[in-house]
Amino acid sequence: MTNTKKRSFDEEAASWDEKPGRIQLAKDIVHAISKEIVLTPEMDVMDFGCGTGLLTIQLAPFVRAITGVDNSRGMLDVFNAKIAERKLDTVNTVFMDLDRGDTLTGRYDLVLSNMTVHHIKEIAPLFEQFHQITAPGGYLCISDLDLDDGRFHDDNSGVFHFGFDRINLRRVFAEAGFDDIRDTDAAAVMKPDVDGEIRRFTVFLMTGRKR
Ligand SMILES: C[S@@+](CC[C@H](N)C(=O)[O-])C[C@H]1O[C@@H](n2cnc3c(N)ncnc32)[C@H](O)[C@@H]1O
Repeated sequence: MTNTKKRSFDEEAASWDEKPGRIQLAKDIVHAISKEIVLTPEMDVMDFGCGTGLLTIQLAPFVRAITGVDNSRGMLDVFNAKIAERKLDTVNTVFMDLDRGDTLTGRYDLVLSNMTVHHIKEIAPLFEQFHQITAPGGYLCISDLDLDDGRFHDDNSGVFHFGFDRINLRRVFAEAGFDDIRDTDAAAVMKPDVDGEIRRFTVFLMTGRKR
């Protein structure tokens, strides 16, 4: 059972980067992506659900340009402050809220999303949009939780999927039009679960290619 009450990422934004586990997870995912995909200085990249840019900023030096998309103004404010402070002129952000009918636009050689898809109720239409904005020969990279039984988040507000079954998610990739679908164990997060017991939650990276 999911709780459809909206989670306020705006309120969490200012302290988002204070949890070392989040920084480590972003590092592990960037490492996993760079093992699976050859990143090149010609690539245009979208990070969907970019948050405060933890992955976006790490990937920026390896690609031509990278756009972070999010529907939390608070997260984007934090991210934009980092972009300005560090003078990251190949990084930009776009506010977009699919819940109010916004659609993804542009053309990207790599579309990625970390720990965001479990917050999206209907994922098939989102993956169709991902396919639409991916350039021929380009890649989709999704990193998210394996099935977690609803135990990962302290509060399941806005969590529509208690992790993903990789076989089912492969089907969503395929039905959206991606092929060469692969999945790997990308990271593990040790944290107290909903009952306060320390547990190991695994995070996969699934990649697909648009032909
Ligand atoms: C768990 S956070 C992950 C943030 C970032 N990817 C990271 O690894 O630190 C999920 C992010 O997805 C964003 N998000 C949730 N639903 C969204 C939607 N419908 N459209 C765009 N972004 C969304 C949230 O605002 C939040 O920044």
